[in-house]
Amino acid sequence: MKFFLDTANLEELKKGASWGIVDGVTTNPSLIAKEGRPLEEHIREICQIVDGDVSAEVVSTDAESMIKEGRELSYIHRNVVVKCPLTRDGIKATSTLAKEGIRVNVTLCFTAGQALLAAKAGAYIISPFVGRLDDIGYTGMDLIRSITQIYKNYGFATQVLAASLRSPTHVIDSALAGAHIGTMPFKVLDMLFNHPLTDKGLDQFLKDWNKVFQETTAAR
Ligand code: E4P
Repeated sequence: MKFFLDTANLEELKKGASWGIVDGVTTNPSLIAKEGRPLEEHIREICQIVDGDVSAEVVSTDAESMIKEGRELSYIHRNVVVKCPLTRDGIKATSTLAKEGIRVNVTLCFTAGQALLAAKAGAYIISPFVGRLDDIGYTGMDLIRSITQIYKNYGFATQVLAASLRSPTHVIDSALAGAHIGTMPFKVLDMLFNHPLTDKGLDQFLKDWNKVFQETTAAR
């Protein structure tokens, strides 16, 4: 399973990348706006921090403008994956961009039917939003299970990226469901490390070690 960071914050990306376990980055217009810098410059900097797929989203809503914007985004850096929303125009733009060899991440997916449309349009990635479905009373993870099964049934090459993950449990369940990628906020990636027995165990190991070897050193 590939781990992507769902953030445009450069400090978080640098910290995550330093652990050697981050395979890519997803951004969206809200995350970019939070950083308050011009998109092109910011995406280029992200690509210098993480050497992997970096999703950058179009903000146009009609197919023709999305295609133009998608092409421009793809010129920023070879690692850029163009993100298009799951609308009629977004699917039309995805189909055109995919035929030109531009990799597209189709975002804002909330049903398996929508995921089928994205795969048929030649999407490189589909992004089903788990947390946002949970927020309105559905079990978001069921969607990941359905899409991975359907794609397997037909051999679609589109990668399933579990998005809107809000907890370590979401990440584990996405892995169990067979998602190719999980994108998560820095906070969730950081939380994956934690277990009280790890801390307690390490504390005890070091106490036992120091009792013998520090005392031996001190006695010399
Ligand atoms: C994915 O690409 C989206 O940016 C993201 O996962 C949305 O997450 P949210 O629902 O926590 O905003």
